[in-house]
Amino acid sequence: MRISVQLLSQNDFSTEAYAVGVFNGQGLENELFFLSPDLASAVSAELKRREFQGKEGESCVLPLFQNKQVKHLIFIGLGKKRLLESQSVRSFTARAIKAANGVQAGELSFDPGLMDDLEDFSAGLQAAAEGLELAAYHFSVYKKRTAKEAVKKYKVESAVFYTRDKKNTLKSQKVLEWAKVYSEAVFLGRDLVNTPSMHMHPAEMVKVAQSLAVRGSGISCKVFDKEAMAKLGMHASLAVGQGSVHEPKFVHLIYKPKISRKAKKLVLVGKAVTFDSGGLSIKPADGMIDMKIDMAGAASVLGVFKALAKIKPKAEVHGLFAAVENIPSGSAYRPGDVVAAMDGTTIEVENTDAEGRITLADALAYGTQKIKPDYMIDLATLTGAVIIALGSDITGMFCSNQDLKNKLQQASDAAGELMWELPLHAPYRELIKSKIADVKNVGGRPAGTITAALFLEKFVGQTPWAHLDIAGPSYAEKENKPELPVGGTGWGIRTLLHLIRGL
Ligand code: BES
Ligand code: ZN
Ligand code: ZN
Repeated sequence: MRISVQLLSQNDFSTEAYAVGVFNGQGLENELFFLSPDLASAVSAELKRREFQGKEGESCVLPLFQNKQVKHLIFIGLGKKRLLESQSVRSFTARAIKAANGVQAGELSFDPGLMDDLEDFSAGLQAAAEGLELAAYHFSVYKKRTAKEAVKKYKVESAVFYTRDKKNTLKSQKVLEWAKVYSEAVFLGRDLVNTPSMHMHPAEMVKVAQSLAVRGSGISCKVFDKEAMAKLGMHASLAVGQGSVHEPKFVHLIYKPKISRKAKKLVLVGKAVTFDSGGLSIKPADGMIDMKIDMAGAASVLGVFKALAKIKPKAEVHGLFAAVENIPSGSAYRPGDVVAAMDGTTIEVENTDAEGRITLADALAYGTQKIKPDYMIDLATLTGAVIIALGSDITGMFCSNQDLKNKLQQASDAAGELMWELPLHAPYRELIKSKIADVKNVGGRPAGTITAALFLEKFVGQTPWAHLDIAGPSYAEKENKPELPVGGTGWGIRTLLHLIRGL
C-alpha cells in the first residue's frame, strides 16, 4: 500500500473512498466541501436517519452513485470530542480501511481535519499509518490459491492523508517510513505465531533468526545446538525439550550500532516453546488448541530485530531465546525431576506444563552472566492466570527498576499496547520453595502470574529487569480491535521499538 500526505486542492479533488471522523453528537461542517450544498445536506439527513451518532467504533458507509469525484463516503465514530490520542487515530484509520476494503475501493482518502487537528503531528501520523497497515494484514499462506487472490483483489492500494498545511507534507516522509518499518516487523511476528507448530519448530526459528543477520544490517546471530547448550550448562531448557524429535536450540542475536562505545545495552528474551502440549502433565484438548502461539515472545523479539536493521538505533540490542517443543514421549522430562539451569540453580519440576519459566531460567541467566546489560526485558506467554486477571487486551508487567518501568510505560503509551503492573510480592517467594532443590517450578493456583515472575527473578541478579506476561494479548481469538486481526498480534514489537529509539 502506498501511503502519502498531500496538500488538499479543492478544485481537482477526487477519490474512490473518503473517510471522515465524526465526534459524538457533532454534525458535519465543511468536510463534504466537494459536494453541492443540497447533496451535503442530504448526506447529513441520511446519517441522522440511520441514527449515526459518532459513538466510538460506529461506522457508516454511503455510496455516492454517479458522483464523479467521490464514490463512497465512510463515516467513523470517534466518541467524545477531545484531542485525538494516537490510539484513537490508529483505530480510526484501521476501521476506515476495513470499510474501504468492504466496498472494494482501491484508493482511500482522509478528510484533512484528521491531520490538521493532531496534537502531535508526527506521533499522530505514525499511528494513522500504522492503523492502515496493521488492519490490512492477512495470513493466507495456508489458503487455496483462489482464496488468496480474493484477499488481494479487495485491497486499498493507495491511501492519502490530506492536509491544508504545506508544512505537514514536508514532515511526513520519515514518519511514514517508520510506520512501514514498524508494521513489517509486526507482520513478521504475526506470521511466525500464526504458522502451525509443524512448520515452526526450533530449527525453523533458528532459520528465521539467521535470515535477519544479513550484511549491512548490523545484526549477527549465534546459534547453539543441543551439545553447545549442554556445554553452557543449559540443562533446564534441554530437559523441557528432551521429549521431542525436534532438538532444542539456543539463539543469540546481536545488533551493534556503528558507534558502540557509550551505547546502552539492552537484552530482550523471548519464550520460544514452539508447541506446548503440557508434556506429561498434559493439557486437556481445549487448552492445547492454540498452543502453537507459545513462541510469541520470541516472535516479537525477532520482529524487533527485523526493524532494527532499518532503524539503526544508537543502543546495542541482544535477542535471546531457547527454542524447544514441550511434548510427552518415552524420553520426556517428568514431574519430580530436578534440573539445573545455566547458573547452577536447581529446579524441581512439579508440573511439566510450567515449562516456559524453566527455559527462561537459562536465557535470563545467559543474559545476566554473558552480556551484563543495562536493561533486560523478557516477553513470555507464561501463565493462563494472567488472562484470568487482565484478559486479552492487557499484558501483565513486572519490573524491578523505576527507570526501566518509566521507559516501558512511555513506550507502551506511544504504541497503544496496554500493560498493567503486578507486584513482585516478596512473601510469595515461600510458595516456590522446594524441599529438595533450590526452587520449584509451580507455586499453586493463587497468584500464579506472580509466582511465575518470582521464579524468573531468581535468574536476573541485580540487572534492571522487566517481565512481560503476554499470554493474553499475544493472540486475538476475536477481533476486539480493528488493527488486530484474528490470530497472532505481534504484541510488544512496537512498544519495544519505541523504547529502543529512546535509549
Ligand atoms: N503456555 C502456557 C500459558 C498459556 C496459557 C499461554 C494459555 C497462553 C494461553 C504455560 O506454559 C502454562 O501451561 N502455564 C500453566 C502453569 C501452571 C501449570 C502452573 C498455566 O498457566 O496453567
Ligand atoms: Zn505450559
Ligand atoms: Zn507454555
